[in-house]
Amino acid sequence: MARIRMKIENEGSARFRVDSGVFYNPQMEELRSMSVTFLKAATVKGKRILDSTAATGIRAIRYALEAKGTDITLLDINKKAADNARKNVRLNGLKFKVLNDSIQKFANTHEGSFEIIDLDPFGSPAPDLYDLMKISWDGTVLMVTATDTAVLCGAHGPACIKIYGAKPLHNEMCKEAGIRILIGYVARIAAQFNFGIVPLLSVSDRHYMRVFIRLEFGAAKAVESVKGTGIGAFCRKCYGFGFAAGAAPLISPACDRCDERMEPFGPLWLRRLYDKKLTSKMLDIKETKLLRTINDEFDSLMFYSIPRITSSLGLGSVSHYSVIGKLKERGRKATETQFDSDGVKTDASAEEVIGAVKAVHSSMASELTTRQSRDY
Ligand SMILES: C[S@@+](CC[C@H](N)C(=O)[O-])C[C@H]1O[C@@H](n2cnc3c(N)ncnc32)[C@H](O)[C@@H]1O
Ligand SMILES: [Zn+2]
Repeated sequence: MARIRMKIENEGSARFRVDSGVFYNPQMEELRSMSVTFLKAATVKGKRILDSTAATGIRAIRYALEAKGTDITLLDINKKAADNARKNVRLNGLKFKVLNDSIQKFANTHEGSFEIIDLDPFGSPAPDLYDLMKISWDGTVLMVTATDTAVLCGAHGPACIKIYGAKPLHNEMCKEAGIRILIGYVARIAAQFNFGIVPLLSVSDRHYMRVFIRLEFGAAKAVESVKGTGIGAFCRKCYGFGFAAGAAPLISPACDRCDERMEPFGPLWLRRLYDKKLTSKMLDIKETKLLRTINDEFDSLMFYSIPRITSSLGLGSVSHYSVIGKLKERGRKATETQFDSDGVKTDASAEEVIGAVKAVHSSMASELTTRQSRDY
């Protein structure tokens, strides 16, 4: 019988085949490249890498060839995937351990820990995080993908409550709320193992979210990072947010600006999403539009959706760039955000943002009147 020879594919410096029944998504290439850039830029205490959901092995192979990873273990629960990854490791002239095992079984039997752990499962990473903490140590960096973004963004509210123990925010701000719910979840699981967390990079793009988090060992650090989680509340009337940090925080049900009933969400991570020294180092290595936006983003808690504000004020649309310009003119920090193409991150209050939107709108209107009278 003739043997079917699969075509050799290329991605980054890697060559590989995709066997039937094994997962490979070419659309995730940019995200894999970003992880390679992350590994090149990050200061990690050692280089023992675990690719815990290897599939074809493409990530681990690229980490070895492009980021000089030398001690890599690949794991996949699917036998076809583990066999495929083993062949691909060989095809690239590499010698790494490839195991056909589940994260759960491996983590409960392996002696020792890894400095870098990549987790890229189907859907939610939540069921795997607990076991991965058992093979983590002080300084371990977790690189975690979630593709259950509909859950984290509130399209299926009860699913987010069930999986992450959190109430999502189902509006234009859902992606930032969702990634913060995911990080908050990691913080609570990590704390059970006496790890505090430091988010180094958080990415939301198309159908996925990916967080890069350093674990720091110590009971006090664990408690401190749980204190960095808390509850958010959003006011649909004046667009303001309220936050209360801690394990059992008290949050006012009424908006302190307009007295409207607030919409609560969370628990979620309330602190920084990025290590800007690291993102700027990554930009020097390889610039992409997404990384540029992330690096330039003002790392504030949540943002303002400009179309939501204009439509509820009954105004025509205004460009979020003009609102950013107006806020800066008024001495505020203001930037774009990766979480919404029409959103603005700023240290200005909701009232100040509404003021800037109105000012931009009226200067547009007076420009139009001037132009019309000139044409006439
Ligand atoms: C989305 S794919 C990984 C894709 C790969 N990281 C890439 O970039 O091409 C998810 C893989 O995780 C494996 N997997 C799912 N649950 C697992 C578990 N509990 N332990 C180990 N592997 C698992 C699946 O068999 C599948 O091959
Ligand atoms: Zn309000």
